[in-house]
Amino acid sequence: MKKLRVAIVGATGYTGLELLRILNNHPQVEIALLSSKSFAGKSLSEVYPFELDQTILEGIDRQKLIEKNCDVLFAALPAGASYELVKSLGNMRVIDLGADFRFDDPHLYEKHYGNSLPDYDSSERVYGLTELYREQIRKASIVANPGCYPTAVLLGLAPLAKNGLLHANTVFVDAKSGVSGAGRKQDEQYSFCELNENLRPYNLVNHRHVPEIEEKLEKMVGRRINVVFVPHLVPMNRGILCTIYLETHLKVQEAHELYNEFYKDEPFVHVLPLGTHPATRWCLGSNHVFLSLAKDERTSTLIVVSTLDNLMKGASGQAVQNMNVMFSIEEETALYLKPIYP
Ligand SMILES: NC(=O)c1ccc[n+]([C@@H]2O[C@H](COP(=O)([O-])OP(=O)(O)OC[C@H]3O[C@@H](n4cnc5c(N)ncnc54)[C@H](OP(=O)(O)O)[C@@H]3O)[C@@H](O)[C@H]2O)c1
Repeated sequence: MKKLRVAIVGATGYTGLELLRILNNHPQVEIALLSSKSFAGKSLSEVYPFELDQTILEGIDRQKLIEKNCDVLFAALPAGASYELVKSLGNMRVIDLGADFRFDDPHLYEKHYGNSLPDYDSSERVYGLTELYREQIRKASIVANPGCYPTAVLLGLAPLAKNGLLHANTVFVDAKSGVSGAGRKQDEQYSFCELNENLRPYNLVNHRHVPEIEEKLEKMVGRRINVVFVPHLVPMNRGILCTIYLETHLKVQEAHELYNEFYKDEPFVHVLPLGTHPATRWCLGSNHVFLSLAKDERTSTLIVVSTLDNLMKGASGQAVQNMNVMFSIEEETALYLKPIYP
């Protein structure tokens, strides 16, 4: 089979580098273009010596992208930077890791991200949560790769939501993330002394991922579910652990059977035996998601724990999984990675 010609814009960011780490081991991929805004004209190894890659970084230029005649473009840019760049690129299919194409309702995006999206309704796009939208992703011209927290929370709730068993009006999510979730930007709050041996909540009740989770849940359930979401920044590089709480009459064994059945054919989502709970390190550098369940019978509360690597299943790993689906390549290709442990 002819290799896919792949372009990455935003190649110097954390998700861009992670894409390269995976795609350099993909037998059906040829990297045709790497772009950067600040480092255009330099080689990748000048910016990151460990990359050992002399490819010259191109500027971010729509015309150049078109001329490169790629099969697929990964846009690993901040919200607002990819919308105009990647729309209508002809035969080139796009996987956008940012938020510009994630919403069905553009007003939600505008409200929470502050950018406007002209002609949004005419842009064909599919939400790239692979396990739930696989058939649509196969044919999509633009795949909106989900946010890292939404991936963890939606996979943690989908078996209930898709089976009409999410009866609670509100779900509560206690979320923890490693610092790479914020990208490599410099900011005092991400400095060593602010993070090390420290734990703190941030963006309480107004995190941008809440409307994304609520919109996709509503689509699954057919009614509005409120999400109370409290994220915390943890002094580690990677990893997300979400603990989800919701009221249910289901017994934990029933819920466990339901989850096992729902994910039984999924290569990357694993439901742990009752009594076993995951840790972020189980996913480090791998595309796997681990889910566990418990029930507090006294308060009728089901507890779902969902763990993933924010740069893998939470971003670049899932993006490559989607590319494999879009081009009818075996879904696990280049993603056979086990976690780096310990
Ligand atoms: N980090 C995560 O865990 C994660 C998870 C899921 C989704 N995402 C999403 O993925 C996207 C990339 O995240 P990241 O963590 O890789 O960010 P990052 O480390 O900050 O990298 C951002 C990249 O975008 C480029 N860039 C910055 N501002 C730009 C602009 N105005 N125009 C064009 N290029 C610009 C930077 O290029 P230069 O510096 O080379 O110019 C850099 O290569 C974001 O939308 C983010 O929300 C991230």
